[in-house]
Amino acid sequence: MNIVVIGTGYVGLVSGTCFAEMGFNVTCVDKIEDKINKLKENIIPIYEPGLEEMVARNVTAGRITFTTDLAAALKDADIVSIAVGTPTRKLDGYADLTYVFDAAKEIATALDHYAVIVTKSTVPAGTGYKIREIIQRTNPSLEFDIASNPEFLREGNAITDFMEPDRVVCGTESTRAREHMAKLYAPLAKAGAEIIHTDIISSELIKYAANTFLATKVSFINEMADLCEKVGGNITDVAYGMGTDQRIGNKFLQPGPGYGGSCFPKDTTAMVNIGERALSPITIVDAVVKVNRARPHRMVAKIIDAAGGDIEGKKIAFLGLTFKPNTDDVRDSIAILVADELARSGATVVAYDPKGMDEAKEVIGQTVTYATDTDEALQDADVMVLATEWSEFCALSPDTLRSKLKQPIVVDLRNAYDPAAMQQAGFDYISIGRAPVFAYSGEQAALARQTKTA
Ligand code: UDX
Repeated sequence: MNIVVIGTGYVGLVSGTCFAEMGFNVTCVDKIEDKINKLKENIIPIYEPGLEEMVARNVTAGRITFTTDLAAALKDADIVSIAVGTPTRKLDGYADLTYVFDAAKEIATALDHYAVIVTKSTVPAGTGYKIREIIQRTNPSLEFDIASNPEFLREGNAITDFMEPDRVVCGTESTRAREHMAKLYAPLAKAGAEIIHTDIISSELIKYAANTFLATKVSFINEMADLCEKVGGNITDVAYGMGTDQRIGNKFLQPGPGYGGSCFPKDTTAMVNIGERALSPITIVDAVVKVNRARPHRMVAKIIDAAGGDIEGKKIAFLGLTFKPNTDDVRDSIAILVADELARSGATVVAYDPKGMDEAKEVIGQTVTYATDTDEALQDADVMVLATEWSEFCALSPDTLRSKLKQPIVVDLRNAYDPAAMQQAGFDYISIGRAPVFAYSGEQAALARQTKTA
């Protein structure tokens, strides 16, 4: 079968490459000439572990090509996958479907034979029917079917999530379309993946329901962490004790500075909006959004408090700018929001991130200073903040930190370090949902008392 994928972003490029890896002939289409030219030279515009090699392998095998010419690409297409962005609309937080509808129009204009037009982008329930109307109106004589095939790819893990999925969801409304989708995913079914066939609306809803439920788990554990800080619990044990119940599961119970990225913030906002428009409010997700929106400010307050109540003119070593590790993506990154707010509160924020520096500069420019490596960020800092749990930051030993920092004060927004080890090494160590360690200021306070009584 010949597959056309429209959109070469995180979803489109990974999907197209994986379809080629599965043995199909794939043409990836994008409007942006520069992107396509770079892809033709195997310059991958996004960082995704394993993607560059997979693209190169399939280009060499002649299974994948890149073009800006959609009409030519559609010539012998059997399946056309729409994988363009659906950003949050500033006006009301709804999913902006402009790119999806533009793609539908262009497909209808260029397609001259039966094909299944699949929506892979995350779209509100009912969008598939709107796509069908657009195509019918644009090209009344065209014979086609629509389908919904949401992606469940985590950035930094996208290839594994695609090739070894928990399940594949296919929403169709004809046997012919269902058979096309079954053929498309036969290689994964053979490898043991569950292929779920349902209707279009249910398929569109599954994506939102899954993503917003995962975001709910994150906001839930973050509120439990805040409660622990107040009443003295240890969130690590609470999360473990909860997560060992198979009905809850231990994933997405890691407390932190809040969820970011190009999906959770967008999908939770859109879900609330979908509920409002359907006069069926999704009140739980509304609360999830509120918890997350307040969180960066809570983190800033925590850091200012750890610095002794004032950060004016203090150097803050800020480790991590991406919304999570193993990606270069800073979209809706909480780390970026926290760094920016600290800088605007008078601190000298010196930030470092293994992959997201260029992307961060595009968002917050020179509000923060950019170090060339971890050591430079740490050198003589009054406070260190761990914002994104890149493994190279998690591997930093208390001794290394102690030797670089001006003051041994660490605020760990990802619970990456061990409180006992930090206590041992004489740190003030503040983390999330766990008892704070004041081995440094306690020592200072004791010293101050001594000098006073001397
Ligand atoms: C998510 C979904 O996981 C994926 O299935 C969907 O297709 C796209 O959206 P992604 O946005 O790449 O994937 O990142 P994910 O790994 O889900 O993390 C999202 C955010 O939640 C990150 O900011 C992460 O730091 C945060 N998070 C995640 C937590 O704070 N705690 C957790 O336990 C898990």
